[in-house]
Amino acid sequence: MFKNLNFEVKSKTKTPTKQLILGFSQIGSESAWRTRNTQSIIEAAKENNIQLIVDDAQQKQENQLKAIRSFIVYQVDVIAFVPIVETGWDNVLKEAKDADIPVIIVDRQIKTDPGLYAGFLGEDSISEGKKAADFLLSKFKNTTRQKINIVEFSGTTNSSVAIGRAKGFRNVISKDPRFNIIHSEDGDFLRSRGKEIMDKIIYNSKGYLTFNNEPIDVIYSHNDSMTLGLLDSLKANKLSSKNIVIVSVDAEQKSIDELVAGNLNCVIECNPNLGPALMELTKQICRGEPIARITYMHESSFTENDDFSKYTARGY
Ligand code: AHR
Repeated sequence: MFKNLNFEVKSKTKTPTKQLILGFSQIGSESAWRTRNTQSIIEAAKENNIQLIVDDAQQKQENQLKAIRSFIVYQVDVIAFVPIVETGWDNVLKEAKDADIPVIIVDRQIKTDPGLYAGFLGEDSISEGKKAADFLLSKFKNTTRQKINIVEFSGTTNSSVAIGRAKGFRNVISKDPRFNIIHSEDGDFLRSRGKEIMDKIIYNSKGYLTFNNEPIDVIYSHNDSMTLGLLDSLKANKLSSKNIVIVSVDAEQKSIDELVAGNLNCVIECNPNLGPALMELTKQICRGEPIARITYMHESSFTENDDFSKYTARGY
């Protein structure tokens, strides 16, 4: 038995011959980022000889709850899941705790009693939002503009990443009163929604990119899928993205290509390659060792000011 802050894990130390079983509930495949995230976990499980049971929740929390309950019935050694939204997990986490199955929260964070899960592995979404805003502050530093209007394409409502990316962004942008968020809309992290939102804006703009008759200077998009969708819309309407500043999050290859082509200005990396760290945490827990409460991934950013010749292929 060991204590990891206030989360107690009964001794789950396995004999070396027994293969560990990890139950993993993924939210779906809404983006290339998500597909790479799932692949990374599948590959790492194979490399570590961990039996992985993956469930695809098709973007529904109720499916995730069912999957986690089935992992409990199956008596897996560890449960990991990507919470689609921040809340609504308390009961299922209590059930896992009663069954002595430790839980690792992956990619997105939750609001609950911290004693109900072993640890979190993923990105620092507040810091991602800050980096996006830092880029804008420096981009517009020497301009004499009185007002800089921002439209935000937000990720799934109530998801920790959408909340964090919005919060970190606002914390920094508020340092310069010229910045003004004139519209924020939930695009659910989907390319199709990014296109739909942009189509609406273009339709109502009558030529110039405006929102409620206010010119749009900046688009801040919470992920690359929505960004690629809004670029689809601009291209279909024969409009250039070069007249506005666009900042995106994820750093999929396609958005890096758009940055190099001059269609985007800044891309903040969100690292999907969580597999190796997740397997390490799983093994640590099963050896009866404490794990870190929070494990953040290393993440960088890419901007129009970079030396593009130094870029290497992203792989997703
Ligand atoms: O939770 C991470 C976010 O979810 C990624 O930014 C996005 O692409 C994905 O859908």
